[in-house]
Amino acid sequence: MTTPSNSPAFEISKVTKQFDQFVALNDISLSVQSGELLCFLGPSGCGKTTLLRIIAGLETQTQGQLVQDGKDVSTVPPAGRNFGIVFQSYALFPNLTAAQNIAYGLVSQGKTKAQIHQRVQELLELVNLPTSGNKFPSQLSGGQQQRIALARALAPAPSLLLLDEPLSALDALERVRLRAEIRRLQQQLGVTTIMVTHDQEEALAISDRIVVMNHGVIEQVGTPHEVYQTPASPFVADFIGKVNVLEATSQGNGNLSVGSVQLETASPCTAKEGEKIKIYLRPEDFTARHISPDQNNVVTVRLSKIEYLGSFCMAEASIEEMQGQTIQLQFWPSYFSELGLDQNGPLSIRLLADRIRHFSS
Ligand SMILES: Nc1ncnc2c1ncn2[C@@H]1O[C@H](COP(=O)(O)OP(=O)(O)O)[C@@H](O)[C@H]1O
Ligand SMILES: [Mg+2]
Repeated sequence: MTTPSNSPAFEISKVTKQFDQFVALNDISLSVQSGELLCFLGPSGCGKTTLLRIIAGLETQTQGQLVQDGKDVSTVPPAGRNFGIVFQSYALFPNLTAAQNIAYGLVSQGKTKAQIHQRVQELLELVNLPTSGNKFPSQLSGGQQQRIALARALAPAPSLLLLDEPLSALDALERVRLRAEIRRLQQQLGVTTIMVTHDQEEALAISDRIVVMNHGVIEQVGTPHEVYQTPASPFVADFIGKVNVLEATSQGNGNLSVGSVQLETASPCTAKEGEKIKIYLRPEDFTARHISPDQNNVVTVRLSKIEYLGSFCMAEASIEEMQGQTIQLQFWPSYFSELGLDQNGPLSIRLLADRIRHFSS
């Protein structure tokens, strides 16, 4: 069955999962679009694996409905759902060669030996291991084993690819390499993919959309840019990227104040006058160029603890007009020479109104 391009590949409606009294997933609804790469991102224990296993039919939901390619699969066992899966641990059969591992799911499809051989070779090439078919898993590196696991999952041409932290067991360099390769393969094949990760950088780098989860609920669904720039909750702001938190007060007129500084924000603060508000500001959400005193959101900072980190510097900035609250600011190293910056001297910066996110305390 082919998926109509205008309908979701997989729909999750009001899914709840309880383990005895513990609610692991609470009223999850989500539409997975055909051909997209979706990441489930969240801290350990938030329910990512449980949701993935429910999609696969490896775990049964306590309540809710699952629809794959327009067909209700809520009670259909895994074999009746069309997916391939890759886990964190390589989970290859150790006594089978790479080629035999890849062929595993094809044998039951009733294909001829020649067809299977051809398909296995195709997949070995797809994952850039064309000559490793005769090797056993113990003769392959972790990254190579994960490529074979990926090839095995893709061999029967599933309409849905499920990946549960497939990169977690790899070293940092191999992780970055393989994630790019997963993305390349996924786009080349156009296979709808759900990947579980607790690594925000990984999710930002390869997703079409990210589902941010916490304590069994979805906090936000959005593109990498959306969840980073316009986090829907303090949790999302804090979990994805670095963020400074400032204590502010609502002015009741849409604006905020921190100490003696009035801050204009792009999205008006609707809290009552005097209400305590938390501001979330990323280290790069300011400018130090072309500052004049008549502009909004200009403050004077004093920098300390400047760390040179190669392509950028991080500095601690203390803001006297904001009751001495400190924030971390990120600079290009060239800023220092360009601005003639003395490390201890005052520096005027402008906080960018459209980057000031605020949430009630
Ligand atoms: N079979 C189980 N029995 C009881 N509790 C479970 C079971 N599987 C998962 N849990 C609990 O459900 C929560 C979510 O687990 P999981 O989905 O594995 O989280 P994640 O993949 O986000 O780290 C955790 O608190 C975990 O301990
Ligand atoms: Mg997990």
